Amino acid sequence: MCGIVGYIGTKKATPILINGLLRLEYRGYDSAGISTIEKDGLSIMKDKGRVKNLSNIPGIDDLEGTIGIAHTRWATHGKPSKENSHPHMDNSKSFSVVHNGIIENYNELRKFLGDNGYTFYSETDTEVIPNLIHYYYSKDNNNDDEKLLRAVRSAVLDLKGSFAIEVISKFDKDNMIVVRKDSPLVIGTCEDENYISSDIPAILSFTRDFYLLNDLEFVVLSRNNATFYDKDLNKIEKDTKTIEWNASAAEKDGYEDYMLKEIHEQPTAIRETIGSKLSEDAPIEFDELNFNKEYLSSLNKIYIVACGTAMHAGLAGKNAIEKLCKIPTEVDIASEFRYRDPIIDDKTLCIFISQSGETADTIAALKLSKEKGAKTLAVTNVIGSSITREADYSIYTHAGPEIAVASTKAYTSQVVLLNVLALYFTQILGCGDAKLNDLKKDILDLPRKIEETLKVCENIGEFAKEVYQEHDVFFLGRGIDETVAKEGSLKLKEISYIHSESYAAGELKHGPIALIEAGITVISIMTDSKLVEKTVSNIQEVITRGAKTLVITNQKVDQKMFDKTIVIPDTNPFISPILSVVPLQLFAYYIAKEKGLDVDKPRNLAKSVTVE
Ligand code: M6R
Repeated sequence: MCGIVGYIGTKKATPILINGLLRLEYRGYDSAGISTIEKDGLSIMKDKGRVKNLSNIPGIDDLEGTIGIAHTRWATHGKPSKENSHPHMDNSKSFSVVHNGIIENYNELRKFLGDNGYTFYSETDTEVIPNLIHYYYSKDNNNDDEKLLRAVRSAVLDLKGSFAIEVISKFDKDNMIVVRKDSPLVIGTCEDENYISSDIPAILSFTRDFYLLNDLEFVVLSRNNATFYDKDLNKIEKDTKTIEWNASAAEKDGYEDYMLKEIHEQPTAIRETIGSKLSEDAPIEFDELNFNKEYLSSLNKIYIVACGTAMHAGLAGKNAIEKLCKIPTEVDIASEFRYRDPIIDDKTLCIFISQSGETADTIAALKLSKEKGAKTLAVTNVIGSSITREADYSIYTHAGPEIAVASTKAYTSQVVLLNVLALYFTQILGCGDAKLNDLKKDILDLPRKIEETLKVCENIGEFAKEVYQEHDVFFLGRGIDETVAKEGSLKLKEISYIHSESYAAGELKHGPIALIEAGITVISIMTDSKLVEKTVSNIQEVITRGAKTLVITNQKVDQKMFDKTIVIPDTNPFISPILSVVPLQLFAYYIAKEKGLDVDKPRNLAKSVTVE
């Protein structure tokens, strides 16, 4: 989705803004632009296409301003074009604005502004904002230091929807104003400089000290200050948070792509996520939670709600919670959950999983659950993200920044954290048995086993070469393996644009087998000793019909039957997805590479989906 960068300091703003935009490229975008405060007023440069086009606009290198705002746009209202690109200015060219989010009442505001003599030059919802600011600014007869702030506040209070906004003005050449509601925005601060960004990795190379904003908090930024106001413009105090990620975590570090790097970072991500919560001989600790036996025993249901890959991690979480704690658990897609009137009361615990912590549907589902009286628990990778500010409790995966659009290390970290959480619940409920100690040991051994899995996948690129030109791939599995099939299929679609489906292997003969013929690849995951023979029979059926087969297993199977078999290390079934997904991630990666695609920034996709 859209990305925002801002700079106010002592250096030339333009190169810093361009660098920031390049680092936000992974969020997905179709146009880019910047606006800076120059000696003779506001400058604005923008165009559709890549940030590279923007940096080639004649004259851009001559900009001297040390205050500027910048934007990558992911088109919602109006096609990608120069006119629709941000920043947008008001009619008098006195205010420049960039905006991430959606203004739901923009038609009404356009009409109001039109009736007051304003003209619009783009199709965007955003263009109402600078004009509204102008409208309020020109109505205010007090010429004090807070005039711009008051105008921005009045304009913002007229907006319905979600927004993260940066404003600069030719009337106030030393300040910038930012505000957010339901859209991400962070402020990085260091001596004589403030940086603004939609997310932390983009400005991590400048600072690790961040201010995190709540909804409708206004910030006036100068070079060496940040002053915070609530929505009634009362001053409020805010402390910085120091982010533990280091700058190199947001670099490719010698890998060809972020995705490949992130796949290889999984042993570390898992180790960091387990952290000190779990050890072989001590009770599990979750300092962030204060659940007791009475509360957990009173639960009638747990909902796990998320989107995409995070939802797939939720399926592994359900498996662990239901089997270990015997609490009925449902997994829902956030965009469905929020509109299906789910049965929730104060005896429901709702768990929301989101790598970014900014996914609009997941946040909306969380708000709904709170309204209905449930306790809410966020599982996220980003400290201070929107979801953590809404939830009653937050626990973190410590996967480090995930830059590639296709989620890999976030998924495996989520699966491990949900398993540790399920073990924690059994500890509180007192329903665990000796077998749980084996599970603990297996979890602690995961980083080593992922290393081993990465090794056995070394030649999966060869198989990718054989099948990358095919049009359809099926992913099959039973039980926990079916949840991994779903994730493998999503990964392949996202980055290779090959059509794929995932099915419970037993469902094949109830319809989809009609599609199986030569030229189709079937990938099956078989890690459950009780189900392996049944899945092998299903695969036999597709072999007979001419499909090519790849099997991912930790069981004894007759490898001669299949075109390719990858034998992964054996582990506890609860956490087998963490190993069996690795070959699928690499398979998708190598297919996309064979097709010459941009693995990190697949078409039409955004890393963080901040609109509905
Ligand atoms: O940031 P989130 O975990 O909330 O994102 C949810 C999905 O948008 C995300 O997992 C998406 O499916 C990924 N691109 C999958 O690789």
